Amino acid sequence: MKPHERILVGIDTPDMERARHIAERVRGLVGGIKLGMEFHNANGPAGVREIAGDTPLFLDLKYHDIPNTVAGAVRSAVTTCRPRIINVHASGGPAMMRAAVDANRDAAAKVGIAPPLMIAVTVLTSIDDADLAAVGQATPAGDQVKRLALLAKEAGCDGVVCSPHEITTLHDACGDNFTLVVPGIRPADAPEDDQKRKMTPSDAVSAGADYIVIGRPITQAADPAAAAKAIAESLL
Ligand code: C5P
Repeated sequence: MKPHERILVGIDTPDMERARHIAERVRGLVGGIKLGMEFHNANGPAGVREIAGDTPLFLDLKYHDIPNTVAGAVRSAVTTCRPRIINVHASGGPAMMRAAVDANRDAAAKVGIAPPLMIAVTVLTSIDDADLAAVGQATPAGDQVKRLALLAKEAGCDGVVCSPHEITTLHDACGDNFTLVVPGIRPADAPEDDQKRKMTPSDAVSAGADYIVIGRPITQAADPAAAAKAIAESLL
């Protein structure tokens, strides 16, 4: 993979015009565009397809439901949005993840595309040990992340979303052929916004991140193309 192909730009807006403006500027300079619930719920699969164009799409809808429903959601998403990467919550359990993996493969074959990477979300970085305890889970967050990553691997998922500080642990636990998608990335000179456990793009890639998800440092920059180029150059 070329260095710039590791960059996925998170475009978080319900506004089609704004998304189009950013996508047009970063196309060809990065590895993909990430669209999530905010954009998808406002603009639907047709809007998602329009913004992705021929740029690889990370469809970040984080499914979590009974296996049959998640399988149906994955089939619909693969058919209508044609993502390169799609995701579910690992906490939905092994049967749900297996159903998602099978539906992903079947739907991709039906529409004649390569199966999107099926990525599992472990523990959201907004959740800490106290939040886990509040929902009846005594395990420290770090242990829970590793447990869910191993479960995702066993269920046939291609990788997980993790924080920069979990890269090394998960790389060691899950091996080379397990894709690590990493948000919480900030160039050294960028404001940290609400990302507390951040890492620079080059440090995250050196640590073993396969993809780095970057939102505001690119989308809020006066010149998103220049910001994307500078980050790509920092990876060389
Ligand atoms: O603007 P920023 O670079 O913080 O955007 C990061 C993107 O990654 C956002 O779309 C955010 O929702 C997503 N994300 C995150 N932390 C996670 C999972 C996803 O920041 N643990």
